[in-house]
Parts: sequence; structure tokens; C-alpha cells
Amino acid sequence: MGSSKPSSLSKKKAVSKAKAVPSSSLEERVSQLLSKLETSEKMIREERDLSYSLKEALNRFLVIENHCELIGRARDINQIIDSLISIAQQVLSFKVYAFYLLDQEKGDYHLRHAQQLDSNHKAIIQSHFDQGIIAWAMSEKRAAVIPDLAGLSQTTQNPTTGFIIVPLLAASNKIGFLEIWPDTIQIRGRNQLTMLELLARQASIAIENTFLYQKLTETNELLKRSQEQTINAEKMAAVGVLASGVAHEINNPLQIILARVQFQNRRSHGPEVDATLKLVEKEAFRISNIVGSILRYAQNQNHPDMQMSRMDVIINDSLLLTHAQLASHQIQVDCQFADDIPELTVNPGQIEQVLLNLIENARHSMKKGGTLYVRTLKKENEIHIEVEDTGHGIPKEYLNRIFDPFFTTKSPNEGTGLGLFLSYGIMQRHHGNIHVESTVGKGTKFILQLPLHPPTPHEEDPHH
Ligand SMILES: Nc1ncnc2c1ncn2[C@@H]1O[C@H](COP(=O)(O)OP(=O)(O)OP(=O)(O)O)[C@@H](O)[C@H]1O
Ligand SMILES: [Mg+2]
Repeated sequence: MGSSKPSSLSKKKAVSKAKAVPSSSLEERVSQLLSKLETSEKMIREERDLSYSLKEALNRFLVIENHCELIGRARDINQIIDSLISIAQQVLSFKVYAFYLLDQEKGDYHLRHAQQLDSNHKAIIQSHFDQGIIAWAMSEKRAAVIPDLAGLSQTTQNPTTGFIIVPLLAASNKIGFLEIWPDTIQIRGRNQLTMLELLARQASIAIENTFLYQKLTETNELLKRSQEQTINAEKMAAVGVLASGVAHEINNPLQIILARVQFQNRRSHGPEVDATLKLVEKEAFRISNIVGSILRYAQNQNHPDMQMSRMDVIINDSLLLTHAQLASHQIQVDCQFADDIPELTVNPGQIEQVLLNLIENARHSMKKGGTLYVRTLKKENEIHIEVEDTGHGIPKEYLNRIFDPFFTTKSPNEGTGLGLFLSYGIMQRHHGNIHVESTVGKGTKFILQLPLHPPTPHEEDPHH
């Protein structure tokens, strides 16, 4: 330890040396040291600031990355737009914005999301549409700052002198655009706009993915339903073959029974036997009618030809086939046939198919019973067949969808949603039409219109 203690000799030397330095050079040295100290302090301060801003930038980057990931994962358009807006607000300070989506089918833009949008802002967007600024920004594929030349926005508390339009494009597909009103007048340069463009691109891809996902789900659903329909159609065809076979077999002995009963009915066998024989004849006649309509149905399936037909016969056949079902649901049938209805050239099997579907739909709507009205009317150049029920009716928002294929409000084992779609096609092929009138809670009326004088085959447009 002795070596660390300065000897009295070395102390003396140091003092004598210090005395030898002139005072001016000492001051110089002190000032040099002070200036060095100042420089070091400044460097430390700068380094600290840099590390702060690096930290801040890193934090912001992490937040943005997090949002970008959210955008990428979102399956819902609203979620994507929310994420896009909250990141964009970190890039640029704004509260007022409008988000427009392009309707891919109609080709026009619809406001999808907005915040604090007043009539002034709406007028500005409209002027941007009218002046072709939106179309220009979309074709430029870049975010654009549009000066507020008219000073329209300056009535707001925070006047801006510009708007920013950010196009949303996935590859070259237009998705929509975002229009922003920045809080401050200053835009710090192209960097911010580039950042907005990048975010918009990310959001556009995510939105396009949701569209594709939606389409895929719809196509899958359609495929599933058409598979069900094919199975049903095959089942129906098999049932049809079976039914017509059975009907054919029943028909022969039935005709013998009918002939014998009718023969016996010509003579009297005493009141009791006579009454029984009359009843047997009536019921056998009913069976004969049912068998007849099944056979006619099968024949029409095999020979889908047009032929002169009486509408009341086709309607009665349809009612006969559905009679038991209607009766078991406490549904009364009220038929009013006009006398002046001529025979029409139609495919009776197909018209019967339309009527069977209308009757079945009516029955389904009258779960607690009711009345089914069937009327025929002659109107100028048309024959109308009306099928009206006193059922639950069709809500307004469904009225223009009921003729769409696969539109149904029934459970899968009750309906496929093809009945009215096929009926519509059949009526079109007959140069006719089908209309609906309905009031919820009161009932529904379907009107079949058939022309009295349909064009003959050579008058028809071959492309139709
Ligand atoms: N008379 C009616 N009363 C109330 N709703 C009806 C009536 N007719 C049709 N609809 C509505 O229209 C929808 C479509 O009818 P459509 O006949 O095309 O299909 P479906 O009856 O559901 O199935 P399918 O006829 O293939 O068995 C029905 O699901 C129902 O919601
Ligand atoms: Mg139906």
C-alpha cells in the first residue's frame, strides 16, 4: 500500500510545476475543457433524443404492424375498415373521413363508413365525383392531395386547405376509396401519402379476399342445393314411374268394377242395396279420376307436347291430386270458373305442375286452415288463372326474391325454393306470365296469365 501514498518530494515538485504555468494559458485550458464538456453534453443529449425517437418509431411501427396483421386476418369488411382508419390516424391526424366501396356489379360507389360527415363534406365529395377527380385519382393509383379551392371546408373549427383521396386497389381491381380531411393544414410530404397508399393496398387485398370468400361460400351453398335437387328430381322420377305403373295396374280391375256396378245400378235391388251400390259407384268413380290424373301426368312427362286443353280440367286434376292434403289441413276450396274460357294450346302437364306448386305453397301458408280460391277469368287477349289463399302472406322484402332459384323460407325437407322459379320458366315458355300480390297476415294471390293467341312457332324469334 505504501506505493500509493505520494511522497512529500513529489508533492513539492507538482506545486513548483503548477506555479510555472502562466495564468493566460491556464484560462485557455479551462475554456478548452469547458467547451469539450459542452460538446459532450450536447452529444449525450442528441443521442438520448435519437434513442427516444427510435423507441417511439419502433413503438409506432409495432402498432402499425399489429394493425396490418389484423387487416390481413379480418374476414369482415367493417373490421378491415376500422383497422385501416385507426392506423391511418397514426400516420396522419384526422377525424373526418368517408369510405366508399365500389359496387362491382353496378359499377358505382356507395358510402360504407364515415365519421363526422356533414352536408359540407358531402357537397365536396359530390363535387369530386362531378368533376371526375375521384375517377382521376383511381386511374392514377396514388393518394392525391386535392386543394379546397372553393373554401367549402373552412366553416369547420379546424379549417383545412386540402383533402386527401386514397384509392383502394387490389392489383388493378378497383375496390373503393378513402377521402380524408386532415386536422392540420400541413402535410409533411410524400412519405405520409406513400404510407397511406401501402395501408390502403393491404386493406384492398383483405377486402377482395372477403368478397372471394363470400362468393365461394355462396357457390358451395348453391352446389349443395343443386345436388339435393338432383337427388330429389331422381327420387320424383322414380316415384313417378312407380305411381304410373301402379295406376295402370289399378285401372284395369277398376274399370271392370265400375262397369259392373253401373250395370247393377240400372236395376233395383231394394233401397238399402241400391244406396250401397250408388256409394260404391261414386267412390270408384273418384278413384278412377285420381288414377286418370296420375296417368295423364306420367303421359305428359313423356310427351311434353302442346295440345288444346281445357283450363278447368287441368285445375280440377290438380285439385284432385291435392284434395286429401288440403282437407286434412282444414282448407276449404272455392272454385269459380268463368263460362267464356276457350280451350288453350298449352302443355297440360306443365301447367298442372305450376298449379300443384301454387296449391302446395298456399297449403303451407295456411297451417291453421283457411280458404283456397281458384278462379278463371277472361281479360282482353288473356286468360287469367288466380290462386289465392288466406295464409300468412309474403313480407315485402321477399316479394322480388321469391322467383329466384333456391329462394325458400322453408326448412330443407319442406322445400327447395325451385317451385316458383320453374313455374316462372314454364309461364314464359307459354308466352305468359306469373304475378304475385300479397299482404302479410291476410294472404297471397298468384295470377297466371296465358295469351289467347300465342305466336305460332314460325312467328317466334328463333333466338328467344
Ligand atoms: N302462397 C304463399 N304464401 C306465403 N309465402 C309464399 C307463398 N308462395 C310462395 N311463398 C314464399 O316463396 C318462397 C319460394 O316459393 P317456391 O315455391 O319457389 O319454393 P318453396 O315452396 O320454398 O320450395 P319448393 O317449391 O321447391 O318445394 C317460399 O319458400 C315462401 O317463402
Ligand atoms: Mg313451392
